[in-house]
Amino acid sequence: MLSLKTNQAMPFISEEELEYLLPFMATAHRQLEEGNGPGADFTGWYHVPDINTEEDLQRIEKVAKRLRESSDILIVLGIGGSYLGARAVIEACNHHFPTLLSKSQRGAPLVIFAGHQLSEDYLAELCDILEDYDVSLNVVSKSGTTTETAIAFRILRSFMEKKYSPEELRQRIVVTTDANKGALRSYADEAGVESFVVPDDIGGRYSVLSAVGLLPIAVAGINIRDLLDGANWAYEKYLRFDPEDVNDCINYALMRHVLARRGYLLEMMVNYEPSMAMFIEWWKQLYGESEGKNGRGIFPAGANFTTDLHSLGQYIQEGSRILFETSILFKSSQREMKVPHQIDDSDQLNYLAGKSLHEINQTAALGTSLAHVRGGVPNLSLELRERSPLTIGALVYFFEKACALSGYLDAINPFDQPGVEAYKRNMFALLGKPGFEDLRSRLMEELNN
Ligand code: PA5
Repeated sequence: MLSLKTNQAMPFISEEELEYLLPFMATAHRQLEEGNGPGADFTGWYHVPDINTEEDLQRIEKVAKRLRESSDILIVLGIGGSYLGARAVIEACNHHFPTLLSKSQRGAPLVIFAGHQLSEDYLAELCDILEDYDVSLNVVSKSGTTTETAIAFRILRSFMEKKYSPEELRQRIVVTTDANKGALRSYADEAGVESFVVPDDIGGRYSVLSAVGLLPIAVAGINIRDLLDGANWAYEKYLRFDPEDVNDCINYALMRHVLARRGYLLEMMVNYEPSMAMFIEWWKQLYGESEGKNGRGIFPAGANFTTDLHSLGQYIQEGSRILFETSILFKSSQREMKVPHQIDDSDQLNYLAGKSLHEINQTAALGTSLAHVRGGVPNLSLELRERSPLTIGALVYFFEKACALSGYLDAINPFDQPGVEAYKRNMFALLGKPGFEDLRSRLMEELNN
């Protein structure tokens, strides 16, 4: 289903370096398994079968069915880990042009996103078009206080209050938040709307396999059982640490660590399928927020090939030698399209006639990695059998576990994000939020100097 190839990175490192790290990896793995490493309170995602009960899954499916039937559009409001996982999986698994399909062609509402930035134009234009559609909202925030999400929810809620009766409104708003605390929990309880829980022991960026991701994914018509089966396959496959036979997930964490020690401090996650672009955004958040601490960490970047070979390709081939590449590849495509034969061959493409685009894409990937390795860029590749909920579920877990291990190997807590507070505090102070008066004076002084 999923395998890691490291042969195009090995010329840049040595076996001894990998072996040297094995005892450290053994400790990291033990910490994760035994739940006694830094941030261990947030490892509820680790044992896939325990993330959701059968009862949880049935309720998610029931609510998703109701929303699918009653809505043309589901707006998911959330930021960071509260929206990226759902969006990544939906875009990875569904049609490339969902907005051009009717609801019956899609077989599901259109799932769109808000509350992940502060653009006035974005929300205003969204409200303009919503008038003619049946709309539902799923607001997702563990803290319940994230400004971007809270503002968007306030605006869209007022819009919904004008459009629907109080009874219908209750059927169209679903809250996903903390079990007991926060503004959204109080709202859900008071308004009597359907609500799901962000588990206490799972942080935002590790939450896609909980109700946070599963509800919107199910509304989009994706089989969440398949997604979870894929994740469970990966959980079983990568469960044990055996120094004699290191599994791919652990090996990925090891390889990245050794490459970083060699000065390759930027990882470029690459896809050859445009539907995986958002998955890379999810991966960037997972690794960026987990690893970027204490002045350390690999910078997670992303690229869509072959598109970006005509923009970033030059830099990758000949720029600063600070990056390594990891490619996500699929062995098969969902559809088949062959290059047709043309009698006049005016475009000189007859040498490709009869070849499928997938075959050409795979060859492009091969040619690219050979060129980049020759240019001094270590290459790793992750090969998936096909693009489906099953393999995407496996990939989600592969990256989550490898990320946690990478963090422990780097002696940091991969489950917190203290650095995210800095911009928030400044924004609150500058906006005049009560309690931030001293910081506001300091910032105003800084700005005036
Ligand atoms: O991964 C994380 O924990 C963060 O990216 C959060 O998901 C993000 O900051 C949103 O937080 P909240 O769900 O509290 O609104």
